[in-house]
Amino acid sequence: MALPSSFLSELKMRCDITDIVSSYVNLKRRGRNMVGLCPFHSEKTPSFNIYPENGSFFCFGCGVGGDVITFIMKIENLDYIEAVKFLAMRAGLSMPEDSFDDGVSKLKGRILEANREAARFFHAQLMSEAGKTAQEYLVGRALSRQTVVRFGLGYAPANRFALSDYLRKKGFKDEEIVAANLAFKRSSGKGIVDRFSDRVMFPIIDLRGNVIAFGGRILADQKPKYLNTSDTLVFKKSSNLFSLNNAKNTGLRTLILCEGYMDVIALNAAGFQNAVATLGTALTAEQALLMKRYADEVIICYDADEAGQKATAKAIDILRNAGLLIRVLSIPDGKDPDEFIRKNGERGQAAFKNLLESSGDDVEYRLTKLRLNHDIKRADSKANYMKEALKIIASLSSFVEQDIYCSKLAEELGIRKDAVLEDLSRLKATKRRDFDRKEYKKVTNDLVGRDEVLNPQKKDNMRGAKAEEMLISYIFHNPDMLKKASELISATDFVTDFNARFYSYITEKISDGLPPDLNVSQDFTPDEVSRFYSIINSYNSQTATLDAMREYIDTIHIEKSKLTKADIANMSAEEIMQNLKKKPKK
Ligand code: UTP
Ligand code: MN
Repeated sequence: MALPSSFLSELKMRCDITDIVSSYVNLKRRGRNMVGLCPFHSEKTPSFNIYPENGSFFCFGCGVGGDVITFIMKIENLDYIEAVKFLAMRAGLSMPEDSFDDGVSKLKGRILEANREAARFFHAQLMSEAGKTAQEYLVGRALSRQTVVRFGLGYAPANRFALSDYLRKKGFKDEEIVAANLAFKRSSGKGIVDRFSDRVMFPIIDLRGNVIAFGGRILADQKPKYLNTSDTLVFKKSSNLFSLNNAKNTGLRTLILCEGYMDVIALNAAGFQNAVATLGTALTAEQALLMKRYADEVIICYDADEAGQKATAKAIDILRNAGLLIRVLSIPDGKDPDEFIRKNGERGQAAFKNLLESSGDDVEYRLTKLRLNHDIKRADSKANYMKEALKIIASLSSFVEQDIYCSKLAEELGIRKDAVLEDLSRLKATKRRDFDRKEYKKVTNDLVGRDEVLNPQKKDNMRGAKAEEMLISYIFHNPDMLKKASELISATDFVTDFNARFYSYITEKISDGLPPDLNVSQDFTPDEVSRFYSIINSYNSQTATLDAMREYIDTIHIEKSKLTKADIANMSAEEIMQNLKKKPKK
């Protein structure tokens, strides 16, 4: 990509990786490095490492790594150019004049502009004569004008060409409107037709204030009740939350998680601005990690019906995995938070506050549900209840809490507390063993799997590939040794093409007097950059001696001279004989 390396070096110098990462992850010093809980996967013990010396990060749990730019790409969900812009702005650097925007970034920008225009159009429609019925509908749902404006609600008119015509007049091309999922190509192949018509429109706004998508509710009792923007270049349903842009500003570090747009809006109107909702799908691990950035605790406030309760159980697992504290709020009367608040009229706010205050933690919630399903007067059912209850209690990370619940359970079942505690510790021991076994398998499988995809030759020559990686790491950390190394080896002597690419890249950089880092560019993908940083950070070769370097090089030469199965298959009998003669006897 056409960004000059002098600019990238300056950018990286000004954007200290520890500073940048600290605003997303709690870091602690460990030796020369910093460690924290990985923001890219769920974990309870920190395996996310920052290496200030070379400006890189690497997670041993999930294998993600890179430099400060890759970090921003991943955490802010940006492409390369966007991440560079993001950091440049933060560092007060202006982008180089002719840095080009690639096609994808350009289209993303156009989609966001089209969405913003569409939101304006929908809002104006709602306020106009055409939006009369929609306005009445919203009044019927007790929404004030202030709330309508705050959420930028709108109305998509019944005419299925209205928005497309409007956007075209504003200079948008049909392809851009379709890419924003605001319209479809007509089945006849001629022209486009609006995706949303005759619906109340809810803009979905991201944390930077961009309109990234819409939800649209039908006015009558018809299906589908809500229609949402499908995933586009700027919108991924599974990694966004409705109204997080408002909720993150409360400074409360508690979020209320609801099912629907209207629940969030009703809660906001009643003064609870920390409400968010998923966008018509079940809660994902990605969304939980996103919440973790703004909250320590999540109060689940799903619908009172059976589907809502099932979703609650699933959400508890996902939120707990992300390391969030959980409370569960049950709505006694009415279907969802929106209806509850409306039913209570003037008292809506106070009544909901009461519910919030009396909401118990998730363990209490799960134990109550479990208790309802067991008749503890029957011995077998009682034993089963105890077993299941202990499983829930064992999932608590606080020993004090575990002890409290064991007391309650002992009392409830009329069993000695010692016996309950004894069973609990046995269960925990088994759980730990299973967990360790699974975790070990998973991590090794994942790491090996990822490696194989990137460097398919490695599995046929582990020794050679390892030596190459150690040499790369050594040269990276000791660029002054390149001259010596170059007398003994070059990239063409490498066993695996993948490592050869890394090696020639860094040797070229060092020879040009530049830092030997790797950037995501036309030449390297984010995965490759991750792999590169994992190589340079996972060997002790950085502090190795010159003799060790010679050994890596010898190993590479020896391994290279070995014939692979593929080589032999391609050789004539004569060549094979010659090679056999060449080989020194052991
Ligand atoms: P609900 O059916 O509980 O709707 O769906 P609601 O929020 O109570 O809506 P109102 O009060 O009748 O207007 C909860 C959420 O599930 C998604 C929407 O995001 C909705 O807010 N959903 C629901 C869809 O995406 N499509 C649908 O057809 C229905
Ligand atoms: Mn509702």
